Order: sequence, then structure tokens, then C-alpha cells
Amino acid sequence: IVLQAPGSFIHHVICVLPCSGVWSVGGLEVSTGKVSSVEAMNGSTVLLPCTYSSCIGIKNLHFNWQYNDNGTMNMLCGGDIPMEGVEPKTTVYHERVEFVGSSKTNNISILLWNITFEDQGEYTCFARNPKEKNRNHSATFTLIVVDQMREIDNTLTVLIVSVLGGVIGLVIIIMVVKALGVRLLRVKTKTNTCLVSSSGNDNTENGLSGAKAENKGTPKA
Ligand SMILES: *[C@@H]1O[C@H](CO)[C@@H](O)[C@H](O)[C@H]1NC(C)=O
Ligand SMILES: *[C@@H]1O[C@H](CO)[C@@H](O)[C@H](O)[C@H]1NC(C)=O
Ligand SMILES: *[C@@H]1O[C@H](CO)[C@@H](O)[C@H](O)[C@H]1NC(C)=O
Ligand SMILES: *[C@@H]1O[C@H](CO)[C@@H](O)[C@H](O)[C@H]1NC(C)=O
Ligand SMILES: *[C@@H]1O[C@H](CO)[C@@H](O)[C@H](O)[C@H]1NC(C)=O
Repeated sequence: IVLQAPGSFIHHVICVLPCSGVWSVGGLEVSTGKVSSVEAMNGSTVLLPCTYSSCIGIKNLHFNWQYNDNGTMNMLCGGDIPMEGVEPKTTVYHERVEFVGSSKTNNISILLWNITFEDQGEYTCFARNPKEKNRNHSATFTLIVVDQMREIDNTLTVLIVSVLGGVIGLVIIIMVVKALGVRLLRVKTKTNTCLVSSSGNDNTENGLSGAKAENKGTPKA
């Protein structure tokens, strides 16, 4: 039997060995998986996951969940699976624990409702398959409870950072616009001088027209 906590990779490797007959004595091996952990907010409900697999099959598999309360193991839930695919008879010893596993998926996970900071710590999923000479198998899961306020603090810092980023971005935009504006002004002054020169031409035209007027005036005189 192989108990699997999330993040364990050994399970396939180990499973091949007993099946190929290498482990003639008991024919089984165990993987506790990597010690995995989850962070959850106080007041929330968390899934404590655990699955099992066995190469030789199971019969009267006994399992339980225990909480390590500073060295003392507190039983949370226990059950027996008569054979593969048959749902277990479970006993729950904790008011906020609910068994949510299913033999169809080799799942013996539990839910822990409305967690508090006292729920922080190690949860051990234990199983024993009589077919495997009663060998004990377990996988441990660490629960870390975080304050709701810390989550808000995180969003606050994200907010502050994004606002700061926005302000810096705005300053950059303003600077760029200013720089462009200066160039535009220079272009404008250039066109202005162009206009001045053209108005100079206009003046000469005016002068010409003036001359024409003078010409017109001369016949009068
Ligand atoms: C989480 O803990 C904080 C601090 O102890 C408390 O003020 C808050 O009410 C708790 N939240 C929930 C949902 O229990
Ligand atoms: C945990 O156990 C240690 C000694 O084993 C003890 O000093 C400590 O006070 C205990 N903590 C709690 C929270 O019970
Ligand atoms: C969890 O908390 C909610 C709201 O406080 C309550 O209605 C519910 O009964 C609690 N569930 C358990 C299993 O304690
Ligand atoms: C075990 O069952 C629970 C509840 O149905 C589900 O949320 C979880 O994903 C299952 N885990 C696996 C590994 O199938
Ligand atoms: C297996 O665990 C049981 C407790 O459930 C214990 O009594 C027994 O000694 C353990 N066996 C081995 C081989 O560690």
C-alpha cells in the first residue's frame, strides 16, 4: 500500500517494485510523500487530502487521521474498508471533522471546518492493510493558519504598490509629454517664423498692392 500526500512522486517507482516480486516479504512498501503543507485563513474550511494505492489489493484496510498536538496524537477520524470499492464505515471523533473520501477513488480525505489558530500543526493520515502483514503506513500534512487581516494587508500593499506605480507612470508620462511639448513648441516657433517670413511676403505683396494703389493713385494725381 502506498499512502500519498500531495506532492509525492515516489509512489509510482515504489509501486513497481512490489508488483514485480522484488519485495517477496510482505510485498509492500510505503511512501509518506513529501511533507506537504497548506496555508489557510482562520475561519475557513480546509481539505486534508490523503489517497492510498496498493498493488496487491486491500482487505479490511484500517485508516485514521490524527492531529499532533504538541506530541500527543489526537484521533480525529477512523474507519475500515472491507475491500476495494466498498465505502468505509467511519467514526468521527472531532466535531469539526467530516469524512469526504470515497473508496471508488481510493480517497480517504477529510474536511476540517471553521479552522482556528489552534488547528495549526501536523495531521497524519495513517493506514494499515492486514494483507501486508499489518505494516503501518502514514503520510503527514502540515496546516498553517493565517490571519484574515494579513490577507487584507497583502491586498493593501498591492494597492499601495500599484498606486505608487501609477503615480510614477504618470510622472513619466508628464515628463514625456513636456519634452514632446517643448519640441512641438520649437516646431511651432519655427512655423511661426515661417509665417512671419510669409507674412513678410504678404507685406511685399501688400507693398506691391500698395504700389498698385500708388499706381492707381498716380493717374488720379
Ligand atoms: C481570525 O482571527 C482574527 C484575530 O484573532 C479575528 O479577529 C477574526 O475574527 C478571525 N476571523 C474569523 C473568520 O474567525
Ligand atoms: C509543548 O511541549 C513542550 C515540551 O514538550 C512545552 O515546553 C510547551 O509548553 C508545550 N506547548 C504547548 C502549547 O503545550
Ligand atoms: C462553521 O461555522 C458556521 C458559521 O459560523 C456554522 O454555521 C457551521 O455550523 C460551522 N460548522 C461546523 C462544522 O462547526
Ligand atoms: C478526495 O475527495 C475530495 C472530496 O470529494 C476531493 O475534494 C479531493 O479532490 C479528492 N482527492 C483526490 C486526490 O481525488
Ligand atoms: C502500527 O501501529 C499500531 C497502532 O495503530 C501499533 O500498535 C503497532 O505497534 C504499529 N506497528 C508497527 C510495526 O510499527
